[in-house]
Amino acid sequence: MTLEAKRVVVGLLSFAFLASLIVVAWVEGLKTRVNPEPEPVLTDDSRACYSCHEDKTPAVTAQWNDSVHARKGVGCYECHQAKKGEIDAWQHEGKWISALVTPDDCGKCHADITAEFQGSHHAKGGQILGSLDNVLGEIVEGTPAVNAGCKQCHGSTIAFQKDASGEIKRDKAGKPLLDPNTWPNSGIGRINPDGSLGTCSACHSRHSFSVEMARRPDSCGKCHMGPDHPQKEIYEESKHGIAFVTADQQGKMNLTARPWVVGVDYNAAPTCATCHMSATRNQPATHDPGKRISWTLRPVISKKQENWEEKRAAMRDVCSACHTQDWVDGHYHQYDSAVNLYNDKFGGPAQRIMTALKEAGALTATPFDEEIEWTFFYLWHHEGRRARMGASMMAPDYTQWHGFFEVAERFYIELIPQAREAAHGHPEAEKVIDEVMAMDEHKWKNGLDPEQAKKVREFYEKRYGVDDE
Ligand code: HEC
Ligand code: HEC
Ligand code: HEC
Ligand code: HEC
Ligand code: HEC
Ligand code: HEC
Ligand code: HEC
Ligand code: HEC
Repeated sequence: MTLEAKRVVVGLLSFAFLASLIVVAWVEGLKTRVNPEPEPVLTDDSRACYSCHEDKTPAVTAQWNDSVHARKGVGCYECHQAKKGEIDAWQHEGKWISALVTPDDCGKCHADITAEFQGSHHAKGGQILGSLDNVLGEIVEGTPAVNAGCKQCHGSTIAFQKDASGEIKRDKAGKPLLDPNTWPNSGIGRINPDGSLGTCSACHSRHSFSVEMARRPDSCGKCHMGPDHPQKEIYEESKHGIAFVTADQQGKMNLTARPWVVGVDYNAAPTCATCHMSATRNQPATHDPGKRISWTLRPVISKKQENWEEKRAAMRDVCSACHTQDWVDGHYHQYDSAVNLYNDKFGGPAQRIMTALKEAGALTATPFDEEIEWTFFYLWHHEGRRARMGASMMAPDYTQWHGFFEVAERFYIELIPQAREAAHGHPEAEKVIDEVMAMDEHKWKNGLDPEQAKKVREFYEKRYGVDDE
């Protein structure tokens, strides 16, 4: 063959080879585009629901279509089915169903998780009737505020509309009508007509029911935020929250993985779920987030939980996927010290004074009718919690400026003067205030040591060339 002919043959061969590559790539691309994941599976029971609701509530069927449930044949009827005679059941297009899907319904297939959730404080979150907060909500504020506020986080007691004779009202199709004061509701401790507690969709929003959403801090943040428990804000300002944002943008969190073990399936940052619920190499995931908490930071004075050593060990096990023992020891030392400081210097003494005023008859028995009762509430329920919670989850601004700074101001500038005024003519109460203010921690009020004051001035003069006073 001439050189020219060889060139033509080689050229033709390479063209054919390249063309075949392109065809293979195109066919593969077509396949993945046509069938990205296994098809949704509709059971015979759910087929009619799906085809009608595809028209009536198209977003519901689309969300379900994208879910893991759709791939496993867990369809509309599998969740919404009910038995004739059940309080929330009615016959809808030929089948007995319910609009409510409670933890008991999910528990038919997820029994262990449901049992664990039912045993948690989360499941009991709807039982707030006896609390001081509830006096504030129901009486000082008013019931509509509780229904659209407190109960959307804590959970309502689901009720039906009743007629004058006490019978449940129904529409033409026989559907029992839910009481709109109590429904819709996805509060964490919802009290359901079947006796089960809570809603799984508090974290696994319907109809995608995804683990990814539940693992994101935003899902906890619906409830764990605001002036009295700003865990979402605390997390966002911590190094952990900062690391999460970058890792998530870079697609490093692997949030859909099953299982999702810290240090194995991801390592760049922890989310709320990582520390409070998800698995480590040594412990399984849990639906009881109380299992890893050693203090309770909610009350006026923080206390250690029952079996707190065990619970702390479980949390430390999470940290140890990313940190050393010394690092974690250091954190718990700073955290415990901050809680003790709050308890011993502010929370405890403030409570002693309030009790003394009440016992002396210097305050009425009615809560929230006197200014000092609001002052005290701010001190422990808002600012004192922020100081403690900031320290628990590494948020220095919440610990200091939204926390201890405001606690100190509230204590010295409002609570003590208001207590002195109320205690006039009640020597027993006055004595308690004097005793509190004579504590070592509060002696600075009698004047800073002049040497120390001079040092502070000199420090700023040297550093900035100004007198910073
Ligand atoms: C022929 C059409 C049709 C079929 C079949 C059908 N539905 Fe519906 N469904 C509707 C319509 C219409 C509504 C009312 C929508 C509205 O109020 O906007 C509804 C409402 C509902 C509701 C909400 C009730 C409430 O009080 O909010 C649920 C839950 C529901 N359907 C589930 C199902 C299930 C499960 C099946 C299958 C067993 C099913 N549907 C079959 C048409 C249908
Ligand atoms: C894994 C269980 C599950 C599956 C599967 C499921 N649902 Fe639901 N559905 C729920 C839950 C939970 C709610 C909220 C009720 C509650 O809070 O008790 C709900 C609510 C609804 C509502 C009321 C929505 C609204 O916002 O008014 C409709 C309608 C409904 N489902 C229809 C369907 C249809 C149609 C399908 C099938 C495509 C389906 N569901 C599949 C669990 C499920
Ligand atoms: C008829 C059985 C059945 C019912 C009822 C059911 N599920 Fe599931 N669920 C499954 C199966 C099967 C899977 C797939 C296997 C697995 O992930 O464990 C699954 C998976 C899940 C997942 C993991 C999804 C993911 O992204 O990996 C969540 C979350 C979930 N279900 C929540 C619920 C909730 C909440 C309810 C009630 C509202 C419920 N399920 C009702 C059978 C059921
Ligand atoms: C934004 C959601 C949200 C709202 C609104 C809300 N809470 Fe809470 N509440 C929570 C969370 C979250 C906790 C747990 C905080 C923690 O553990 O740090 C909590 C804790 C409590 C506790 C302490 C529980 C215990 O066992 O110590 C009581 C009592 C309470 N809330 C009552 C109320 C009342 C009454 C209202 C309305 C006046 C209300 N809450 C409004 C989310 C909310
Ligand atoms: C407080 C939020 C929250 C609530 C409420 C909640 N879950 Fe979950 N759930 C999660 C988180 C977070 C995960 C992921 C845990 C992990 O990383 O493995 C999860 C995972 C799951 C899984 C996947 C389990 C696995 O082995 O990977 C199922 C199934 C599930 N939940 C069902 C339920 C059911 C049923 C309920 C109600 C009884 C419920 N969840 C209530 C937060 C919640
Ligand atoms: C719908 C509201 C809501 C959501 C969503 C929610 N919580 Fe809670 N959480 C509460 C309430 C209310 C309490 C207080 C319950 C009580 O003790 O009465 C609480 C308590 C807790 C506690 C203290 C538990 C204990 O035993 O003392 C932890 C930890 C916690 N939640 C973590 C989480 C995490 C992590 C998530 C997200 C994966 C989450 N929560 C999602 C409302 C919620
Ligand atoms: C790096 C791990 C870590 C992350 C991330 C984290 N927490 Fe925590 N959380 C802790 C530790 C540690 C404590 C204190 C436990 C103790 O007292 O032993 C705590 C305490 C809590 C408490 C108990 C407060 C009380 O009233 O006693 C709640 C509720 C809580 N966290 C919710 C959240 C939420 C919601 C998020 C995400 C927005 C989150 N946490 C993120 C580690 C973490
Ligand atoms: C998935 C890995 C991971 C887990 C789990 C984890 N951390 Fe971290 N932690 C980090 C990263 C990343 C940083 C940022 C390091 C840096 O800035 O150099 C960090 C920083 C810190 C800091 C320094 C905060 C600061 O402002 O400098 C402390 C303290 C800390 N973690 C304690 C804990 C404790 C306590 C736990 C368990 C309750 C825990 N961490 C769990 C990854 C993790």
